[in-house]
Amino acid sequence: MAFRTLDDLDVKAKRVLVRADLNVPVADGAVTDLTRIVRQAPTLKELAERGARVIVLSHFDRPKGKVVPSMSLKVLLAPLSDAVGRRVAFAEDCIGPMAEQAVAALKDGDVLLLENTRFHKGEEANDPEMARQLAALGDIFVNDAFSAAHRAHASTEGLARLLPNAAGRSMQAELTHLEKALGNPERPLLAVVGGAKVSTKIELLQNLVTRVETLVIGGAMANTFLAAQGIKIGKSLHEPDHLETARKVIHMATESGAVLLLPSDVVVAKEFKAGATHRTVPVGNIAEDEMALDVGPDSIKAFETRLQATRTLVWNGPFGAFEIQPFDAGTVSAARAVADATKKGQLLSVAGGGDTVAALAHAGVEQDFTYVSTAGGAFLEWLEGKELPGVQALTAR
Ligand code: 3PG
Ligand code: MG
Repeated sequence: MAFRTLDDLDVKAKRVLVRADLNVPVADGAVTDLTRIVRQAPTLKELAERGARVIVLSHFDRPKGKVVPSMSLKVLLAPLSDAVGRRVAFAEDCIGPMAEQAVAALKDGDVLLLENTRFHKGEEANDPEMARQLAALGDIFVNDAFSAAHRAHASTEGLARLLPNAAGRSMQAELTHLEKALGNPERPLLAVVGGAKVSTKIELLQNLVTRVETLVIGGAMANTFLAAQGIKIGKSLHEPDHLETARKVIHMATESGAVLLLPSDVVVAKEFKAGATHRTVPVGNIAEDEMALDVGPDSIKAFETRLQATRTLVWNGPFGAFEIQPFDAGTVSAARAVADATKKGQLLSVAGGGDTVAALAHAGVEQDFTYVSTAGGAFLEWLEGKELPGVQALTAR
């Protein structure tokens, strides 16, 4: 993976367009999780300190090519200014006269946020004319939005092909860690894949199983794997239409010599609710009216044993219904075991995608992994082995 970084750029007095991903959760007009803003700030700060005129582009939510006032980036101005440590100006459009005037008013070291790129249809269509109008606003393009790199949009892909470009610090950190975790890992390599559905992770499972020494399956998708082996799983959540998919993954593991670690014991309950009456049973003993909601202590022990011999770990998805107690126990102990091995220097650990970050935060260990990605869909596509168009375009010019 060859890409330029900020180290390769001369930015003084240049207009630098930075694609950030400021698609953060907002409730009642306030940002509820600042992680992405905090991760994007170092690039903006560094560029401003080096005398660039910094112009920030981002999408927010899915307005589908129309101006939707509730999806304005304006609510992010204050938290972004706080994170960057300077006043951030705002323009109510990302292309056209309003954007042009705001850019023309910038002095060296100023930072400007442009309105939601998805207010224009051309963004998601990757319309060359939209990319051209964006490119006209800057001299250099910096993409710092790994979490949006799976979208071939005008501000991620099209624009990168029109200007000299580089990865921002957050993009650089994501790509460096992903390379160490899966591109060129120290072995043995272990992947944890959890979550509810096999159906959303078919390509991911099929890619990982050929690349790892150990594949650990957790969450409700493990039920589908158990059922595929003829184990009675009661009323556990599973996908009867994907038994064949699970069998294929099992077969692929045998072919490639990967160890497939499925739960050997589970915590079962008759209802899906916090504090429900529960018991721990070997996977063969799930009653007809019971459902598996977490992995049991023997499964965690087997995971920890494999972990001792592992040098690199990739994690996506929880082991159980970690949102409700006590069914968070498996996820929490597994996450803590990974955190401990990482702190001891035995393990390089990288996590990301959807529910994963929330699960690690719940276990109190999100600071103790080597790297936690801010990406959801982009992280999953990367685990699938796909080329991400936003990353590919970075090396193109
Ligand atoms: C994300 O939150 O996953 C990224 O910002 C991409 O958003 P999207 O799924 O709406 O393209
Ligand atoms: Mg998404």
